[in-house]
Amino acid sequence: MGPMDLLDDLFPPVEDDPPAGVVVLRARTGLAGQRPAIDAITAVAPFRHLQVPGGRRMSVATTNAGARGWCSDRAGYRYATRDPLSGQPWAPIPEAWLALAAGWAAEAGFPCFVPDCCLINRYAPGARMGAHRDQDEQDFSQPIVSVSLGRPATFVWLGASRSGPGRSISLRDGDVVVFGGAARLGYHAVRPIRADPSAFDCRINLTFRRAG
Ligand code: SIN
Ligand code: FE2
Repeated sequence: MGPMDLLDDLFPPVEDDPPAGVVVLRARTGLAGQRPAIDAITAVAPFRHLQVPGGRRMSVATTNAGARGWCSDRAGYRYATRDPLSGQPWAPIPEAWLALAAGWAAEAGFPCFVPDCCLINRYAPGARMGAHRDQDEQDFSQPIVSVSLGRPATFVWLGASRSGPGRSISLRDGDVVVFGGAARLGYHAVRPIRADPSAFDCRINLTFRRAG
């Protein structure tokens, strides 16, 4: 057992008692089917390791599709209508993804979800996402729809406080987490992706947001 297993054990699983406003939909899609659409988006705006305001670079590589894309640099976090690397608009969110995201949001109790941003996070083994909340959007009545593809991950729901207590949600290829309402501004994190042999080379997370 390595240090990661010990840390995972600190967070009891969420399965039997999901926090209010967090809905987990299992096995709704998969990386294999979505890879062509992801490749088309990254041909327009390649994955990059963004700098955070403190100066560090994220271990996760990101890009975006949609009218707005989430960006970070030394000056702060923001949504940008053009890719700062190229000055060009982001690729549009594929119609099929808009329909899927709206359907999953509706299943979770949010019937009118029209995302204008799909943030794409790519996690190589070892990459992680520190505790944060999604707070750069205009309208917190709209949920976040977060799709896990490829390698498995441990998502940690921390809720009202950055320091927890946390609860683990094991996410596999095709699982979808919707958080909105009471949970919309909840803190969350992703444990480092394990280097175990897997059918997938990485984990990809699609996060659909209504940013503007
Ligand atoms: C995020 O919170 O931005 C990413 C969540 C995830 O990768 O599951
Ligand atoms: Fe997030």
